[in-house]
Amino acid sequence: MPILEWDDSYSVGVELIDSEHKQLIGMINKAYDSIKNMEEEKVLVELVKDMNAYAAAHFGTEEKLMKEHGYPASEGHLKMHDEFAIKAKTLHNFVRSENEIEPVKVFKFLADWLRDHILKTDKDFGKFLNEQGVR
Ligand SMILES: [Fe+2]
Ligand SMILES: [Fe+2]
Repeated sequence: MPILEWDDSYSVGVELIDSEHKQLIGMINKAYDSIKNMEEEKVLVELVKDMNAYAAAHFGTEEKLMKEHGYPASEGHLKMHDEFAIKAKTLHNFVRSENEIEPVKVFKFLADWLRDHILKTDKDFGKFLNEQGVR
């Protein structure tokens, strides 16, 4: 079962952002499944690495749009992205070092974080972009 599932209620009204969110959610699910299915550790390492890289690129997309359109609430929004990146890095380190932190818990945190962030922070931003004519 996926840890997080995209549906229309997650739409922020901007096509590019929606498609990146779908992709990111898919990547979290894939990495999470790989733990659940007890796949080889190197598989998980790669999936987590890819997910972190994709998250960073996605945050870059949003940051670029914020700059382009002079988004007034960008500072707080970008701080939240940093929070995700730091936590995701913990997961990355964990997978590599095989210590005893429960990775499932970290995935749950990331999935919950992403859901709340999309539904509130990214939606606020999407609304602002819509007002600027960006769809
Ligand atoms: Fe986002
Ligand atoms: Fe965001």
